[in-house]
Amino acid sequence: MKRIVIVVVTLLLSTAFMPVINVVNFPNSSNYAKKEESLQIYELPAPIKIDISLEEAIARRKSVREFTEEPVSEEELSTILWYAYGYINGKRPVHAIDKNAAQIYVLKEDGVYKYDALNHSLILYKTGDYRKKVAQYEAPIQLGLVWNKSKSSNEYYASAEIGQIGQNIYFVTNALNLGTVTTVGFTLSLIGLPSNEEPKIIMPLGHPKYPYNFTYKPMLLLSNLPCIQNSSMPLLTAIEERSETTTFGGEITKQQLSQILWAAYGFSYYIDHSLSEKNKIARHRVVPSAHAYYPLKIYAITEDGIYKYFAGLYRYYMWNLPVLHTVVKIRNGDFRKEIAEASSLPSIENAPLIIISVLSLRMTKGMIGLWDDFSSEEYRWMWYYEAGASAYNVLLESTAWNLSANIVLPTDIDTIRSLLRLNEEYIPLLIVPVGEKMH
Ligand SMILES: Cc1cc2nc3c(=O)[nH]c(=O)nc-3n(C[C@H](O)[C@H](O)[C@H](O)COP(=O)(O)O)c2cc1C
Repeated sequence: MKRIVIVVVTLLLSTAFMPVINVVNFPNSSNYAKKEESLQIYELPAPIKIDISLEEAIARRKSVREFTEEPVSEEELSTILWYAYGYINGKRPVHAIDKNAAQIYVLKEDGVYKYDALNHSLILYKTGDYRKKVAQYEAPIQLGLVWNKSKSSNEYYASAEIGQIGQNIYFVTNALNLGTVTTVGFTLSLIGLPSNEEPKIIMPLGHPKYPYNFTYKPMLLLSNLPCIQNSSMPLLTAIEERSETTTFGGEITKQQLSQILWAAYGFSYYIDHSLSEKNKIARHRVVPSAHAYYPLKIYAITEDGIYKYFAGLYRYYMWNLPVLHTVVKIRNGDFRKEIAEASSLPSIENAPLIIISVLSLRMTKGMIGLWDDFSSEEYRWMWYYEAGASAYNVLLESTAWNLSANIVLPTDIDTIRSLLRLNEEYIPLLIVPVGEKMH
């Protein structure tokens, strides 16, 4: 009887899914579905091809917290999951900093599903509507991002990987004119997770109550870097063809430097007019940040010195101030070898550009009595999420500008601090070398 129900449900669902054209290397999961008859498996339809440039997608990234009741289609859900964490051309769309250690749960009205990336399907985990129980914001679908501790024991690196997945969810969701927001997801444990999984993030998916409404307004009054250009690379191609290497060479133009720093931590070239009372930020940044603290400092190390990137003015969002998008040289000389030796990949010494994200603990303390203090180790994973999101943007932007990159770990924190002239209030999080791929 159970088998008959499963077959009927599967048939009903498969006729409801309208496959779409323009699919790249999409797996056929039907064999798998036949083998695992005891599981309730729902194949996802082919993803939608979205035509938007990478920079446009980065510039449109924003958080949405209010949604209409209009459902998210299976094609839209399929596209978001595929580009978030599917197996594209045999590899994941994000960099496995440690090991691919994330799992996505999909919370729908009728139940909770596990995303099976290998077969691009949903496996029923639990029946029942858990969406309101776990989520901060009501939406037709909630995505739960969890850390699989059996794959990686390092919470920080797993969070940095989840930060990359979160970026793809933002980019693809926003490009589909849907909305999402990164929220802290401890409540996901209410669905009853396996003991090796720890909840991290919940991202709602839905149609924004206030439609997207941007105007192009790059504010470059105080900039010593060239204006951000849209590359000819579509978002989806950048995700599919993400270029990584361990052997670097070549040079970086000023335009490439500008694009990469912007992708790492800059502000959108758009002003957002679609603001509700709950969401007053008018110019968004390329990554989300818990409480909009934006506590990362971005350094650029080249052959001729160490530079600090300034994207805007402190607590810009309070007064809606203009962006700066500028670099200031803090040291003369070539320090790439020393940085490389203090990292997990010494061959990055030949990279023409090395980006380092550094956490300022002071910036995570909030305003005394007003905002939460997120400076303790308990919350450190949130800043790795943000650093992972920033590093991922650099991987994609490098790909779009015919460069290659990597995500490398700092192994000698004290040396890096001293090279960047920082005290113990600063913690180097991730290193991203960029350059031409050498063979
Ligand atoms: C790790 C992390 C946790 C967050 N948690 C929440 C949350 O619990 N609730 C919420 O409304 N927003 C949360 N945010 C979203 C930020 O508030 C948002 O990114 C920031 O206000 C900037 O707005 P924007 O993303 O629209 O540019 C979180 C962001 C990050 C990166």
